[in-house]
Amino acid sequence: MRTHYCGEINADFIDQTVELCGWVNRRRDHGGVIFIDLRDRSGVVQVVYDPDVEDVFATAEQVRNEFVLRIKGRVRARPEGTVNPDLPTGEIEILGKELEILNRAETPPFQLDDEDTSEELRLRYRYIDLRRPVMQERIQLRARVTRALRRYLDEQGFLDIETPMLTRATPEGARDYLVPSRVHAGKFFALPQSPQLFKQLLMMSGMDRYYQVVRCFRDEDLRADRQPEFTQLDLEMSFIDEEQIMSLMEEMIRGVFRETLGVELPDPFPRMSYAEAMRRFGSDRPDLRCSLELVDVADLLTDIEFKVFAGPAKDPKGRVAALRLPGGGRLSRKEIDDYTKFVGIYGAKGLAYIKVNELANGVNGLQSPILKFIPDEAVMEIMARTGAEDGDIVFFGADKAQVVNEALGALRVKLAEDLGLMEEGWRPLWVVDFPMFEWDEGSDRWHALHHPFTAPKADQIDLLESDPGACLSRAYDMVLNGTEVGGGSIRIHQEAVQEKIFSLLGIGEEEAREKFGFLLDALKYGCPPHGGLAFGLDRLVMLMAGAHSIRDVMAFPKTQSASCLLTQAPSEVSTEQLRELHIRVRTQGKKSG
Ligand code: AMO
Ligand code: AMP
Repeated sequence: MRTHYCGEINADFIDQTVELCGWVNRRRDHGGVIFIDLRDRSGVVQVVYDPDVEDVFATAEQVRNEFVLRIKGRVRARPEGTVNPDLPTGEIEILGKELEILNRAETPPFQLDDEDTSEELRLRYRYIDLRRPVMQERIQLRARVTRALRRYLDEQGFLDIETPMLTRATPEGARDYLVPSRVHAGKFFALPQSPQLFKQLLMMSGMDRYYQVVRCFRDEDLRADRQPEFTQLDLEMSFIDEEQIMSLMEEMIRGVFRETLGVELPDPFPRMSYAEAMRRFGSDRPDLRCSLELVDVADLLTDIEFKVFAGPAKDPKGRVAALRLPGGGRLSRKEIDDYTKFVGIYGAKGLAYIKVNELANGVNGLQSPILKFIPDEAVMEIMARTGAEDGDIVFFGADKAQVVNEALGALRVKLAEDLGLMEEGWRPLWVVDFPMFEWDEGSDRWHALHHPFTAPKADQIDLLESDPGACLSRAYDMVLNGTEVGGGSIRIHQEAVQEKIFSLLGIGEEEAREKFGFLLDALKYGCPPHGGLAFGLDRLVMLMAGAHSIRDVMAFPKTQSASCLLTQAPSEVSTEQLRELHIRVRTQGKKSG
């Protein structure tokens, strides 16, 4: 039906006749001449209709936004003064000779170029939203990124192998989406939170190198970078160690950035231990574009009267940290109050601060409601440790370490964004040396920081007995600009170690058998040392596209409340269907359950 895409037409085509198909981006009636901007996935081109060809002009007059057209015309240079340098097709226009309306469209529910359209409306009419050039670019970038990743892995000898969607629960830390079985009354499949166990079984099957671009399902609280179904680039390798995996993965990511964005990432990526990341940045996915750092000051404050600081300073699980903001002395009372509210989201009970007016005057050159509670020497030592200078502000967090880390960790990024202190560019890193376990106060037991199949460091296996909290794992996360884009580990390949980990996690022998018997069995029949990693493809593409939510790089995402506004899923089903699935139906009222 066409000879070219709209966005391809440029000055090289002058005097040629082209045939194009697409949507009406805009129609303008300029007293006798009609301009139609025709759009397809490649871009927009201007078509002009003169009244001299009467019937074609009459058709052009009927045309409205989002009509689907097929046009034929001759390419000509735009008249002097009407060239649009912002448009790839801006030097030319097409003098329309023919015009066929392939389909009409009702007035769209929103203007495609209206920046303020609510996301709700965009998701409801996603097929219109996806016509927007910015969405076209994002979805096309996603396809290019996926293609480049696949090509790299194909070249490296990875086999693309599918794994089941109807399966058993894999513990990745979220709730499962369950699918009731019709055939087996009262039994359920779980949709995979990841293909973790299957990819390990593939290594035991001798596949050596596996990858898959695969959908994962997690029923968890949603955020801008979390969706109930999302895509992983998942992979696993046999007979390798963490060094090999990390260097291969870096090379892959560098290649994809080079190929799709023309960006050169560092070689190698820097590495940071989990402990250092938490200490300096309060986060295991530090955004290195922001140079503000947390500084520990608890040791200076253990013996003071001020309980807000002394309490956490003395608590082995507490933390008192300072965060210096250069130039922050300018912040108003109101701004400080707003930041206090902001850290409140993370559970912080307050946000103490000291403004630095004139350091040469000692404590008299400082300004803060808490000065009276802290001895002068301690205050001056804090100033020295944080490197404070005149005109700065120093914030404080004092609480359980987790609260301080989350609150000040988020605050440093927020401050940098608000005050324009965020560096431009790309700051990837590996976070390594994660602890195997975290103590979960709520359930009063150890909890796997990565997942229960992650191997402990070889020289620390003894710690599993003596001090599990101190045992480090062979896990690694790839972090890019403050987002965890991927994570993985070397796995346990010995049955005895796997059983030990299950028992530490409070998974008894019987439960382990019941849930993971197939894995424990497989470990008996010749399991190679192996390890792997999974990237969050949506997150990676979100960052590369400069988008702020993974919803913007998914064709048909769900809302924050895990529903699809386009299809209205989830939806009710018939009583008949429920009965077949052995789900008891309440007869009274309409509700079923
Ligand atoms: P993990 O749970 O860390 O590891 O997941 C790997 C990566 O997937 C992305 N991700 C998500 N993206 C969008 N929405 C979500 N709800 C979501 N949850 C996770 C993140 C994360 O880094 N089986 C292991 C990997 C392994 O050990 O090989 C796993 O799934 O970018
Ligand atoms: P208060 O004694 O409650 O008036 O607090 C004095 C100052 O300490 C205020 O600026 C509070 O915002 C701050 N503050 C209170 N609790 C904490 C906390 N847990 N961490 C940091 N600052 C706090």
